Amino acid sequence: MKLLKLFILFLSFPILAQQGGMWVPSMLEGMNESEMQQLGMKMTAEDIYDTNTSSLKDAIVHFDGGCTAEIISPKGLLLTNHHCGYDAIQNHSSIEHDYLQDGFWAKSQNEELPNPKMVATLIVSIHDVTNTVLEGVSQLTSEAEKQKKIQENSNRIQKSFPKESWQENKIKTFYEGNQYLLFVTETFKDIRLVGAPPSSIGKFGSDTDNWVWPRHTGDFSIFRIYADKNNKPAEYSKDNVPYTPKHFLPISLDGISEGDFTMVFGFPGRTQEYLPSFAVEQIINTLNPAKIEIRDAALKVQDGFMRKDKAIKIQYASKYARIANYWKKWIGESQGLKKSDAVQLKKDFETEFQKRVVAQGKQDTYGNLLSDFEKNYKAINDYALARDYFIEVVYRNTELLNVGFRLYQLEQIYKTKGEQAFNDRKENTVKSLENFYKDFNVNVDKQVFEKLIALYGQKSPLIPTEFKTMDYGKTTDEIYSKSKLTSYKNLQSLLSGEASKVIKALHKDKGYQLVKKLADNFYENISPKYDAIDLEIGGLQRDYMKAQLELFPDGRFFPDANSTLRITYGQVKGYHPSDAVYYETSTHLEGVMEKYIPGDYEFDVPAKLIELYKTKNYGPYAENGKIPVCFIATNHTTGGNSGSPALDANGNLIGLNFDRVWEGTMSDIHYDPEICRNIMVDIRYVLFIIDKYAGAENLIDEMQMVHPKKSTKK
Ligand code: ARG
Ligand code: ASP
Repeated sequence: MKLLKLFILFLSFPILAQQGGMWVPSMLEGMNESEMQQLGMKMTAEDIYDTNTSSLKDAIVHFDGGCTAEIISPKGLLLTNHHCGYDAIQNHSSIEHDYLQDGFWAKSQNEELPNPKMVATLIVSIHDVTNTVLEGVSQLTSEAEKQKKIQENSNRIQKSFPKESWQENKIKTFYEGNQYLLFVTETFKDIRLVGAPPSSIGKFGSDTDNWVWPRHTGDFSIFRIYADKNNKPAEYSKDNVPYTPKHFLPISLDGISEGDFTMVFGFPGRTQEYLPSFAVEQIINTLNPAKIEIRDAALKVQDGFMRKDKAIKIQYASKYARIANYWKKWIGESQGLKKSDAVQLKKDFETEFQKRVVAQGKQDTYGNLLSDFEKNYKAINDYALARDYFIEVVYRNTELLNVGFRLYQLEQIYKTKGEQAFNDRKENTVKSLENFYKDFNVNVDKQVFEKLIALYGQKSPLIPTEFKTMDYGKTTDEIYSKSKLTSYKNLQSLLSGEASKVIKALHKDKGYQLVKKLADNFYENISPKYDAIDLEIGGLQRDYMKAQLELFPDGRFFPDANSTLRITYGQVKGYHPSDAVYYETSTHLEGVMEKYIPGDYEFDVPAKLIELYKTKNYGPYAENGKIPVCFIATNHTTGGNSGSPALDANGNLIGLNFDRVWEGTMSDIHYDPEICRNIMVDIRYVLFIIDKYAGAENLIDEMQMVHPKKSTKK
């Protein structure tokens, strides 16, 4: 049975088109195009990606580095998630105008709010530069030399590759180092906030509903790209004008039904679909449990304070959501990997792999790959775990240690680059920490520290012995009463004066001393060894990928996500999360009302929305008298796909991707088409909120609504 399942994954010509995978849009012709058409797509590969005429890709934007957004009007209107625009919305908020709480709607273009530093990147063209990048690499023996050569070649290609003066380019590796693609891009730097619903719509269900289906969140916000008068990227200026795109997405009002073709076009961040079983075991048994335990402790402390104190709740809401997001994901991921027997499936595949190596007489090239993996994963275990402890405790979840670590880096800059570089960096650090301290509560962080330092000391391998035997309570009291890192004022005084004086003062600070011990230990005893083994593993992973492509010529291999533009496609489809339970594809406003808890910070519903629900004031957005809210499909997505458009068979916008279902969170490591689903806001809910809730008809008027199923245009 298991073997059967495995071979279905690798069957050559499927009877029914297969699903899963994130594909490069410039390489869809052939296998993908025909699969997509089998699934119901009515377009060609060229309609999706073309460099001669406009195509769908001209409407897809890498939003501020981490999310996706799409252009939905001829005037550069951008749609993305509420959680992707969250920081911008928060930055524009104050007690008088709390846009997180109440929402924000610009009634005209001059009310749109600029966001310094926010960027939106379009892909101009994609080019295969593999041969040039790998020139002179195969004859080198060590991994380090190979990587160095690859870097040199890439730098050279990037410098000489033809592009316009306002464009950039970058090279990314695919198939674990077996393919290199160059992307010519255009980055817009004047992006303004246009609209956002209140959090009670945009973040409805918050952390309780995060990663969960059925879902009822209107997770969207709206921005606009501005360009100079030649329609080119430019820094913010009030003379800039709305960008005229090569393509913008028409919006379908016809809705979806089970079985419909859908595709998601965006910038998935990172997947690891080709790990050997040893790596997956390590994630399930060692790394995920440690990270979960640390975050669990931090979250409990923060939650306790947030429930008692409203000011702390505001200060920590965004931080809490960030920590909780991956905490919850790792729990779901481990559960899903276990339930789907991912390790055994990998092992079965490895047995078959080894058989084929022998059958084809390739023992010399590939015969030792699996045993080398096993050796290296054993060797890296403690270093990987110690590294995760350092990152989670020092860098991500204890605020005082995070500040201390930034100062540690400052000291390194002084040592390596001198006084001037030190002063520049110091100025930046001091500036950026001002905002940080506004949301810092010393009592919260003190308790987090005490819990986390104890976990770190007792459980991390490769930690200096004094941390194992330390009196954690006493250390905590001492640091939080004496260190200058606990307030902005003290920090400023600590950092005032010339470099040598600052360094001396730092060395006397109790908090800094502790960070320095941990960071020195990390850079001396953990990171060099980790990096060295990781480099070897990277080389093995490249060879393993190459071997799989050779030995399974009919296999359906897609390159792991790497924050580049990808297409993933599938069908609107429900699923069985557990025995006797079936989840349907769509949720409705009725479900929002079922979850409604008046005054609750996760499940409150705005009065105006309740009113619209009662009067059924739905305009053209309802289906059978109900407002659709979210839906699911088999598109294979990951972090970074948030804000990506969900498109119908003709390339019209039908939804906005924002999450995945609980049972399928393991899809970054093992995609199972039976239960992995992505979650999208139905575009009709977005329009309903913009039109009926916010009354922002000005925005609706900019968009182009279509009725593909009725084939009439409004
Ligand atoms: N899980 C989704 C993603 O990974 C949504 C996260 C934002 N929502 C939240 N409650 N933290 O980004
Ligand atoms: N919520 C994720 C994001 O922000 C999407 C996902 O992981 O499915 O990109």
